[in-house]
Amino acid sequence: MHDICVSLRDRFIYPMCTYIASVVRVSLLLPWFKQTEFYPKFPHNIIAHYADNPNCHPSAMKLEVAHIQKNPLVTHGAGGPVYTARSKLNRSFVVLLPLALAAILGYTTYLAHRHDAPHRVSATLDNRVAKLPVMGYNTWNAYHCDIDEDLILQNAQLMKSLNLADAGYTYVNIDDCYSEKSRNDDGDIVEDATKFPSGMKALTDKIHDLGLKAGIYSDSGWFTCQLYPGSFQNEARDAKRFHDWGFDYLKYDNCAVPFDNITRENIMGRYERMANAIGDFSLSSGTPPLILSMCQWGREQGWTWARRYGQSWRTTDDIEPYWQSIVKILNQNSFYTWATDFYGHNDMDILEIGNGPLTYEEAKSHFTAWALLKSPLLIGTHLASATKETLEILTNPEIIAIHQDSVVGTSISPFRWGINSDWVSNDTHPAQYWSGESQNGTVFMLLNTLDEPADMFFRLTESPWIRAGRQYTVRDLWTHTDNGTVVRNFTAHAVPPHGVVALLLQDAGDEPDGLWPPCAVLEWCMNSNGTRIDE
Ligand code: GAL
Repeated sequence: MHDICVSLRDRFIYPMCTYIASVVRVSLLLPWFKQTEFYPKFPHNIIAHYADNPNCHPSAMKLEVAHIQKNPLVTHGAGGPVYTARSKLNRSFVVLLPLALAAILGYTTYLAHRHDAPHRVSATLDNRVAKLPVMGYNTWNAYHCDIDEDLILQNAQLMKSLNLADAGYTYVNIDDCYSEKSRNDDGDIVEDATKFPSGMKALTDKIHDLGLKAGIYSDSGWFTCQLYPGSFQNEARDAKRFHDWGFDYLKYDNCAVPFDNITRENIMGRYERMANAIGDFSLSSGTPPLILSMCQWGREQGWTWARRYGQSWRTTDDIEPYWQSIVKILNQNSFYTWATDFYGHNDMDILEIGNGPLTYEEAKSHFTAWALLKSPLLIGTHLASATKETLEILTNPEIIAIHQDSVVGTSISPFRWGINSDWVSNDTHPAQYWSGESQNGTVFMLLNTLDEPADMFFRLTESPWIRAGRQYTVRDLWTHTDNGTVVRNFTAHAVPPHGVVALLLQDAGDEPDGLWPPCAVLEWCMNSNGTRIDE
């Protein structure tokens, strides 16, 4: 029902508002020509429709015509004058002339301004897909362009047999290099006949038969980053194509940008084109929209705008399987954790767990940070040769439970930077002390960014999510043990180099009586007669 209303609004009501506004304007000129009082003569049914419809309220008529275009940001509030249909002039030309003029004026104004509206919120947002960060597999980190249907199906089957699907990894995403270098004569992207001889639809059918979902890749420019066809100016055609192929998810890249005099837009506009194509196709076909994963590498502060178009946005350049890359990405993300919540997630890039020279401790830290910051978790390693340690890290159920928390969608954030002063950006030594909410308690992440073991100490109330004057039970999310009750302070001893501690603290009642000082945070701590304790 909602979809039908939106469609009616965009295709009929907004143009109608333009038309009626023009009627009124042209009509109001007539008294000047005729030197006589004039009341517009509308058919009664139009007036009734017009007065009753909140999307076409008389107050909207006062707005400039350009503002009445397809722009959901315009508020059609209640109130405003009530126009009545009353005819003092009965000469038909008085009616027909303004109607004809208004039709021309209204329609040409509509046409001229239909693309001028400010960036509009995509219909995909209303459809509310991907409330939680996506978990799945992506081909890029492990295989780059060396992909084909057998390999993708094999990984999909391994996701089932290795229990990754049960752990929550349900998307099988194909990255760049799956298509022929040119579109076909109809203008459609075609799958590479050698790599995908059975066709994409046959592949997605098999993926779906495994109980999994499928993702595909394209680009907001002329070409993908490996110079296969991009979707610029073919957004609607490609959104339909990807849907017809059976995909549920689209990663959308940022290479091969058309000249400014063609786009007359920047990055936001190019992403908006695909978001709208997906939304429009979803509305017209009555099918759920593709999840839109925007791969714009953190350019132009995607965390401030991308939520209106899709469900995740890359925040940084491409990840590499080295500690330096992991901490650099984490450092940058420490400054915009606030942008992540249900239906929109900072994307820290495909996981490198199982790849390159990352140590066990580094891989655990990498996974913990990506999961607790609520980034999409896309496995990027060769599953056929994945080690027991890699699989153990990827399937940690207690960390995944927080990543997939359906009640609390927010990320952890640093409460103390540690080695650096707070708010200092340091690509090799990012923030070390992090906390956040979950439905089951307060989550802590302690990261040892040093090259040697370290004790890591914090006062509980440094985290805003901890209540003063209470004590907490401690659950270790990596050892999977309950580690007693803490009061006021916690120390993790001998955290390995580049290692991590992940904890869940649960309220266990009031702290013992008589603790000194009476405030865990001494600043301005005062008794009721005005004596400061901190001086
Ligand atoms: C990059 C993107 C990578 C991968 C690659 C494919 O722009 O960040 O994740 O998709 O393109 O060419």
